Amino acid sequence: MTVGIPIRRLWPEPSTQPLDDATLTHLYRRADRPRLRVNFVASLDGAVTVDSYSAGLSGEPDKRVFGLLRMLCDALVVAAGTLRHEGYRAVRLDERRRAWRRAHGLAEYPTLVVVSGSLDLDPAQAAFADAPVRPIVLTHADADPPPGLSDVADLLRCGGDRVDLAAGLAELHRRGLTQLLCEGGPHLLGALTAADLVDELCLTVAPLLAGPGPGRITAGDSAPPRHLPLGHVLAADDGVLLLRHARP
Ligand SMILES: NC(=O)c1ccc[n+]([C@@H]2O[C@H](COP(=O)([O-])OP(=O)(O)OC[C@H]3O[C@@H](n4cnc5c(N)ncnc54)[C@H](OP(=O)(O)O)[C@@H]3O)[C@@H](O)[C@H]2O)c1
Repeated sequence: MTVGIPIRRLWPEPSTQPLDDATLTHLYRRADRPRLRVNFVASLDGAVTVDSYSAGLSGEPDKRVFGLLRMLCDALVVAAGTLRHEGYRAVRLDERRRAWRRAHGLAEYPTLVVVSGSLDLDPAQAAFADAPVRPIVLTHADADPPPGLSDVADLLRCGGDRVDLAAGLAELHRRGLTQLLCEGGPHLLGALTAADLVDELCLTVAPLLAGPGPGRITAGDSAPPRHLPLGHVLAADDGVLLLRHARP
């Protein structure tokens, strides 16, 4: 990848040296045990969207880390709301990233896992129809799939009348998908927080005041606060902060 805006480490061990991809890969490396990593971008005043999309908050440094995190995971977990709203396409990685995965004994592409209670999903959406790896839809026993969904995705039913996220993640681990990257959205993060399933949060902070209106990166029913210690702080030369907070 052509590196545009340099990213440097502020904490720990501040350095003026721009981080190359190998160093960034090491900073976000895979864990030696199952882990759920969540990745979001927010404005300085905590907004999760600008004009109802995340694109207005993201720039080149965020996209660089976003792509790197996809390269590093076994499965990419996304809530149906974000999949529908952001029009998720099939998960693709460039040849360099696919080569990195092959060299590290991983499948060429991560598996897409869509979390949905209603199964109000369109099998023709590119995320399903063009997927290089058959996606998994994590749902519950009572949910009725729309015609065609089972042709393009495997249904994983955990829970009776609502999705049991802990059981769902445990089943993904059992299938060898232990490094999970969740790209949101807010309701899924809220539910994962309530179930105390979040091991790591990678948060890009865009130097922008979005103003009142948009929601936060989390939504839904209230949950007890969870402490996530700081792992690192990176800064891009355009003023974007890249935070990593993780359980010890
Ligand atoms: N800034 C960022 O990094 C970022 C990242 C992601 C999303 N976003 C933004 O967030 C907004 C979308 O948010 P949203 O409110 O739609 O939230 P969401 O969490 O993306 O989606 C909510 C939907 O996902 C499914 N879902 C989530 N948690 C579930 C659970 N515990 N059990 C079963 N199903 C679950 C349900 O789908 P069903 O209705 O199918 O049951 C639910 O209606 C968009 O504007 C998007 O742009 C921003």
